[in-house]
Amino acid sequence: MAKLIGLNRIKTAVFISGTGSNLKNLINFSKTKKSPISIDLIISNTIKAKGLKFANQYQIKKKIFNFKNIKTTEKKLFILLKKNKINFICLAGFMKILSSKFIKQFNGKIINIHPSLLPRYKGLNTHSRAIQNKDKFSGCTVHYVTEKLDSGKIIMQKKIKILKKDTSSSLARKILKQEHKIYPKAILKIFN
Ligand code: GRF
Repeated sequence: MAKLIGLNRIKTAVFISGTGSNLKNLINFSKTKKSPISIDLIISNTIKAKGLKFANQYQIKKKIFNFKNIKTTEKKLFILLKKNKINFICLAGFMKILSSKFIKQFNGKIINIHPSLLPRYKGLNTHSRAIQNKDKFSGCTVHYVTEKLDSGKIIMQKKIKILKKDTSSSLARKILKQEHKIYPKAILKIFN
């Protein structure tokens, strides 16, 4: 019976640029009975991404593209994704902006996790901006990826309190924990 687990799951690629804690979390989720996805490919824009170690650890195919020429890179990337029958893409700390052509090719099938309560704080440095503005709350958002940065339809959010003593790194740590909770939940919400 165990062999059957994994069949008929939506073949998914995770795109990373850094530590890959969300990637690791999604891999663990994908191995649970309830997961609608399997993770079959890991894409990184840099060899330096620490998260690439999870590709070796869990024996998942990986590929690095430097994205210097976005057009030729995305052409190669598209071919690779099709070859591996990838039908769903999770961005997890991926620091490159995908072209609208690429996003349209995977229309509605690319999601992202962002460390703020969108629509507040699109882009970078979300935690320091929230602290600077003396916000009482921050959080994280899973959303569909569209041509407009961090602006696609929201799938799920988690709100947390910002304490007086919080720094951008303490806030980042707390929010990352929540990211690990809501990313799998958002995927379940999409497919169930
Ligand atoms: C996360 O905070 C994510 O929301 C942001 O980049 C960070 C990536 O962390 N886009 P990790 O590489 O998944 O550990």
